[in-house]
Amino acid sequence: MTFRLLRFTLLLILLIGVSGCQEGEELTIDAKVERLLAEMTLEEKVGQMTQITIQAVSKTQGTVNHKHEIDPDKLREAITKYHVGSILNVWNVAHTGEYWQELITRIQDICTKETRLGIPVIYGIDAIHGANYTLGATLFPQSIAMAATRNPELIRKCSEITARETRACGIPWNFNPVLGVGRQPLWPRFWETYGEDSYLVSIMGKEYIEAQQGQDMSASDKVAACAKHYLGYSFPLSGKDRTPAWIPDRVLREIFLPPFKTAVEAGVATVMINSSEINGVPVHSSHYYLTEILRDELGFQGFVVSDWNDINNLYLREKVAKDQKEAVKMAVMAGIDMSMVPYNYSFYKQLLELVQEGSVPMSRIDEAVSRILRVKYQLELFDNPYPQKRNLKKIATDEAQAVNYRAACEAITLLKNSDDLLPLSKKRRVFVAGPTADKLSVLNGGWSITWQGNEESLYPAEKHTILEAIREEIGAENVLYTPGADFDNVLDIDKATRLAQEAGLAILCLGEPTYCETPGNIDDLTISAPQIELVKAVSEARVPIVLVLVEGRPRLVRDIVPMTDAVVMAYLPGMEGGPAIADILFGDVNPSGKLPMSYPQYPNSLMTYDHKYSEIDSLNDYDAQWPFGFGLSYTSFEYSDLILNDSLFSIGDQIHVSVNVTNSGDRAGKEVVELYVSDKVASITPPVKRLKRFRKVALVPGETKRVNVTLNGADLSFVGRDKRRITEPGEFTVEIAGLTREFIVE
Ligand code: BGC
Repeated sequence: MTFRLLRFTLLLILLIGVSGCQEGEELTIDAKVERLLAEMTLEEKVGQMTQITIQAVSKTQGTVNHKHEIDPDKLREAITKYHVGSILNVWNVAHTGEYWQELITRIQDICTKETRLGIPVIYGIDAIHGANYTLGATLFPQSIAMAATRNPELIRKCSEITARETRACGIPWNFNPVLGVGRQPLWPRFWETYGEDSYLVSIMGKEYIEAQQGQDMSASDKVAACAKHYLGYSFPLSGKDRTPAWIPDRVLREIFLPPFKTAVEAGVATVMINSSEINGVPVHSSHYYLTEILRDELGFQGFVVSDWNDINNLYLREKVAKDQKEAVKMAVMAGIDMSMVPYNYSFYKQLLELVQEGSVPMSRIDEAVSRILRVKYQLELFDNPYPQKRNLKKIATDEAQAVNYRAACEAITLLKNSDDLLPLSKKRRVFVAGPTADKLSVLNGGWSITWQGNEESLYPAEKHTILEAIREEIGAENVLYTPGADFDNVLDIDKATRLAQEAGLAILCLGEPTYCETPGNIDDLTISAPQIELVKAVSEARVPIVLVLVEGRPRLVRDIVPMTDAVVMAYLPGMEGGPAIADILFGDVNPSGKLPMSYPQYPNSLMTYDHKYSEIDSLNDYDAQWPFGFGLSYTSFEYSDLILNDSLFSIGDQIHVSVNVTNSGDRAGKEVVELYVSDKVASITPPVKRLKRFRKVALVPGETKRVNVTLNGADLSFVGRDKRRITEPGEFTVEIAGLTREFIVE
């Protein structure tokens, strides 16, 4: 009997045998899961919990110069012998949409035609700012930049397009959003976060997840999202990737847990785990974090996937398990449902043994597998495992490009503009230099086309670097250029001084090379020395200097800022970053981005905006180079009539706040209205203020809009001494753009 026939017969038997299900009646997903689970062998179940990398079943890994080639025998073995539930990733190679479809089809063909139960594989990738690993797909600004837009509607649109382009390739699972709160600027994954504020991260994460998954994840333009890396990964004490975090439980619940709580409430389908440890406990080994908090407290229903090799790391790196087998038991019993193994079947073999010898109960396996199968059913992978050719035309549409450009424009943040130097006249000459001036890779950062994002040759020729976009804007004849420096070396620096003098104005594009994860570790937050030398040399030309910062984390620029007249923070603005920067420099676009982090001035003063009162006194201050929420415009905004509906509230009352914002300048612009609350006295030392709401409003010159927001009891709460969230009666202050109102809660 062929597998197909066997499968059909089995299905028939099952259909007839389903208790209480009348002919034609649709089974619920839970019933389907239960039915399938009852048919599965232990081997098939443990296989579902196993995720391998595509490299493990490839003949050639694929590089920029060598095409990737699948190994059909190994692929068949993975699926038919080891029953793997999931495959992930490619490495330093990108595929066309067509090739992706071909690859996914080959994988699903084996699942549907050559296995007993026909369970499809769920393929996952890191499409963290667009359909990564796909040539020509839309690559948006990275998350840190998206947070600067303060525009939830934009993040929703970008996420929708990412989901659509990823699923068009046949890939139904995206390992994003990163919901770590970015409070450690040295960390090389800082730019994967939505910045330092827990509320901002929660709002952006929620929009992202809802847009990825939609109402119905099975739609041909939706994917399963993955909230990661739960929990505390973004706050390594050393600033190095995958190193210990020390976070008291109360702080964990106050700052780092809320974005994951919001994600669970938004129905996120999967969660990926922090590779490292909190307070000496590797998160992959922690029943407390993975089960007691994530499941019992937050009520997460989806499945939990480990990060790369991290179960093995429990014994290899973290040293909490004596061998691999103990590590597997520890992780599975803690609550890991799927292991990103990723190169072999060690997890499969050991878990099998552990169950056979009774060390891991069958109930735990059934629980994990049910969660995985449920997501597969929700994605309708059983009925539609194959990509559709016609969906390929949904990749990189004009609409996607327009949204991408808008996102970059709204992210870019103007940090300094002495004597209104910007916007520049289009009728002038400029000199352009610096290591980020003429590369597309640096605008995109890691997880762009390839893992490290540094394969410049794979970037689309039709996209514009900053230099090319400036040439487009004012004519190539008006643009003088020499690199002047790269990230590590001073180059033709004398020429730079000379050309700056000749042009009468210099645009210096500085920042960081591309990097991703551990290769991006640094020992010094200061921007690299040759770039500082470049600014110093150009400043000798005594011409105005515009600094454009293209960087994933705030590299210190304290010494060079005084030599400049304008500073534009571009973050990692994505594929449309070049035109967006040029359009801001030359006034086609009025900047409206706001810093999602405090931009530090000193290496040892890395304070966040929501610091404690004890951190600021007559000798110390919140001395950021630019504070959280900062960002200039080419117009001016005035605020007035901040009103609360009352000044005395009971706990749980709604507090209605409204304020007028007026465009008092002579250009149309967008303003971000940010509302902060301060608790004057609390049983846990209160932060000086916390962001509670933000609204982005567009205003033409002279226009006034009234912005209304409602706060509720939860907005005044904090995690108390007993680790429970409470709202204490007392006095509070609401602040919007320097205007304040006091109120009392009884
Ligand atoms: C990263 C994850 C990523 C995974 C798969 C890991 O190294 O930490 O964020 O999703 O690789 O590519």
